[in-house]
Amino acid sequence: MHSKLSLMPTRREFTKATLFTGVALATGAWAAPGPARRIRTGVIGCGSVSNSYLPVLTRSPFVEVVSLCDIKPERARRQAERFKVSHHYPNMEAMLAGEPFDFLVDLTDMQQHEAINRRGLEAGKHVWSEKPIANSLAAGQELLRLARQKNLRLWGAPITVQSPQFAFMARQLAEGKLGRVAAAHADYGHDGPNWSAFFYEKGGGSMPDLAVYSLTTLTGLLGPARAVSAMVSVVTPERTVADKGRIPVTEEDNAMILLDHGHGVISHIQSGFNYFNPHGHDGRKETRHTLSIVGSAGYLGLVGYDWEPLGVDMAIRDAPAMRRHVTDAQGYLWQQGAALAAECLSTGKELLVTPEHALHVLEIITAARESSASGRRVPLASTFPWPVIRG
Ligand SMILES: NC(=O)c1ccc[n+]([C@@H]2O[C@H](COP(=O)([O-])OP(=O)(O)OC[C@H]3O[C@@H](n4cnc5c(N)ncnc54)[C@H](O)[C@@H]3O)[C@@H](O)[C@H]2O)c1
Repeated sequence: MHSKLSLMPTRREFTKATLFTGVALATGAWAAPGPARRIRTGVIGCGSVSNSYLPVLTRSPFVEVVSLCDIKPERARRQAERFKVSHHYPNMEAMLAGEPFDFLVDLTDMQQHEAINRRGLEAGKHVWSEKPIANSLAAGQELLRLARQKNLRLWGAPITVQSPQFAFMARQLAEGKLGRVAAAHADYGHDGPNWSAFFYEKGGGSMPDLAVYSLTTLTGLLGPARAVSAMVSVVTPERTVADKGRIPVTEEDNAMILLDHGHGVISHIQSGFNYFNPHGHDGRKETRHTLSIVGSAGYLGLVGYDWEPLGVDMAIRDAPAMRRHVTDAQGYLWQQGAALAAECLSTGKELLVTPEHALHVLEIITAARESSASGRRVPLASTFPWPVIRG
């Protein structure tokens, strides 16, 4: 009998997971017991995604946004006016020397995160980072060590494991409803961002921007991956973007990734910036199964994107007609990660999101680039606390 067992961690994995949890609990000293307090928060990077984060942060009872920062100072000024934030700064050092705060939310260019997150931790701030946390697994692990040494917290987007649809899928798998799990697929693409060049420069690409969601969800559901095989390519070698005009595309804009999750389970993830998509960047209009898992006794299809899911369709041997479940978001929003992290700092309520998981996904992305360049299957070294949702 396989089913349930196929997705249960081995004893070695379980011990590792338990150790990780132990570390998380050991670092729990930061959590303030007693009544909730507002966490003094500074947001760095006031571009596109700040328009999604700031409404959530400024409404959260656990957050007081005290300062904003952007190296394009007019952006910080404009968002400070719009969201009634009293201080804004033109660079990180000025922000750190200005109005005191405890929690840094990093919404800058993907390639900037590593240095900014490090500087934030060095300055004694808890850090929430948009993806990726760092540019490599080794650098990310170093940041996590620094955080633990200083009794600080570090988290990274995305937060797809927090959705009720993820929880539903995880429960079906844990209960063995799919029988012997065999294969999974996810795809995410559109015609690419047209506002900033960093998406197409070294360290950017469709994998850290788009596949990162599918990789987080599928490793979250099926377990840490053991090896990666991938092909990546550049389909459109030149682009026009708002901040720099005509630019060469030097990072992949087309990726096909195969993951070995162990126990015979294989998943396939594809992402790209050259995908016709009638809904563009609007997640609410996507109604396809962008992520699916199949086993010997059942099928799960996630309706819409994992970052803004609309439901889960399931067909199983005992009930073979496809039925839709979990159509209510139950308050989940893809852009609420930093607000949830502040709630954790304020109340001690833990997230399902872990930095180890974000770093495992980062390792998959760098290994996929390596696999494509070398033509070889690349083994993975990292893991994370799994199952994400326990019993
Ligand atoms: N735009 C979205 O809808 C969206 C959605 C999810 C995640 N993200 C992620 O959010 C991050 C930001 O993306 P974006 O689309 O907002 O990009 P953006 O270019 O619109 O904004 C980035 C901002 O960071 C600022 N910045 C860069 N380096 C800085 C530094 N050293 N100090 C201070 N400010 C600095 C830039 O001036 C810019 O205003 C990326 O990691 C991206 O993958 C974006």
